[in-house]
Amino acid sequence: MSQLVVKGLLRLNGETKVQGSKNSVLPILASTILCGGESIIHNCPMLSDVKATVNILRYLGCKVEIFGNTVVCDSSGLSGNFIPDSLMREMRSSIIFLGALIARTNSAEMCFPGGCEIGLRPIDIHLKSLESLGVRIEDDHGLFRCSAEDGLYGAKIALSFPSVGATENIMICACSAEGTTVITNAAREPEICDLAEFLNKCGAEISGAGESTIVIEGSKKLHGAVHTVIPDRIAAATLLSCCAVSGGRITLTDVIPSHLGAVLSILEECGCDIDSYGGNIIMQSPPRLNAPKIVRTMPYPGFPTDTQPLIMSVSAKSRGTALFIENIFENRYQHINGLLRMGANIKVQDRTAVVQGVSYLHGAKVSATDLRGAASLVTAALGAEGNTFIDGVKYLDRGYENFESTLSSLGANIVRTQC
Ligand code: EPZ
Repeated sequence: MSQLVVKGLLRLNGETKVQGSKNSVLPILASTILCGGESIIHNCPMLSDVKATVNILRYLGCKVEIFGNTVVCDSSGLSGNFIPDSLMREMRSSIIFLGALIARTNSAEMCFPGGCEIGLRPIDIHLKSLESLGVRIEDDHGLFRCSAEDGLYGAKIALSFPSVGATENIMICACSAEGTTVITNAAREPEICDLAEFLNKCGAEISGAGESTIVIEGSKKLHGAVHTVIPDRIAAATLLSCCAVSGGRITLTDVIPSHLGAVLSILEECGCDIDSYGGNIIMQSPPRLNAPKIVRTMPYPGFPTDTQPLIMSVSAKSRGTALFIENIFENRYQHINGLLRMGANIKVQDRTAVVQGVSYLHGAKVSATDLRGAASLVTAALGAEGNTFIDGVKYLDRGYENFESTLSSLGANIVRTQC
């Protein structure tokens, strides 16, 4: 099993490019099923979640080739509509294939993707929304048999929660529906805009992406397209957090600063000097940070839940007390176990965590149990005295491309060992 060994208290300095967005490339790759031809997707991060998505596309009969960070997918040979449990379980967000398969084949069969380490991850909003489009769904002991024998038809869909995945599934499926679909209370994340841009390049007619109301004109025959995935705003926030906790200075290139508004605001509250221009962010961190007063996670453009673990690590060694409220996922504080082992002072009650900043963190043996939790432990380790040994590296590989080498290029002492 792999383990990361991090030697702390080294200042990070330098410049690095931000990877392509995991949460954008996954739905875009799934939606290539709709095109019935060849699509070329650039700036794809090489992650285990991307490889899991490619495995599903190939299992369904698509021809997929990977050239560096470019994925070429030809879905003309699509021959299946069933995704086996083994592939579904490789990646939680494989539910995004549901809308694409139904839109292309009028049917789909897959198992409930199941929860993950950060929560139960229900899909009720997905299923209810697809039923509004005319999909009949039978739950056969956890195997969903979906069909749209009478075709798909546009609908007005009001989401009870601005679910990112459900918004994406509806957008994709509605491209094949007869008539107009209107989504209200839609998710507004940048990844929604990126997916809509790709689908429109393929011949779809989607407007309003990025706002709470999205309109999809259906019954479009889609074709392949060439697209470059947006930068990963969470990977960018991760690198900024690693730099902040080490008192360093970093320049991020190929990033969209406006996608990180809420995160940059918190880092400035912590005392970081941040300048952003064009596709760059420059951040200078102080020797010791101030704790942010309150960090509450919200749907975009609010503070993103995916960066809560990272800013918590930054807050752990700050001056003052930070109050965290995790409003999105019910079990997203597991990284706190590792932070406590490193000397952090954190109290948790339900979805609230109170972080009392300490002057020193010390290295320890810790275990990651989810993707952003793993990044949180690396962040804290960079600000801790001595060596930290982190198990659960596989979680990092789900969402970060070449994570250790990127941090090493900025001056970190971090190695992956087999143990
Ligand atoms: C996407 O997950 C991201 N994943 C997550 O990133 C991110 O944390 C999340 O959006 C919120 O921004 C991808 O894009 C692949 P949701 P998703 O549907 O679509 C509840 C990471 O670390 N809900 O917006 O699954 C749900 O339980 C990952 O990169 C229902 O109740 O998120 C949660 O409480 C983690 N019923 C909330 O909505 C549903 O049918 C947000 O879920 C769907 C969701």
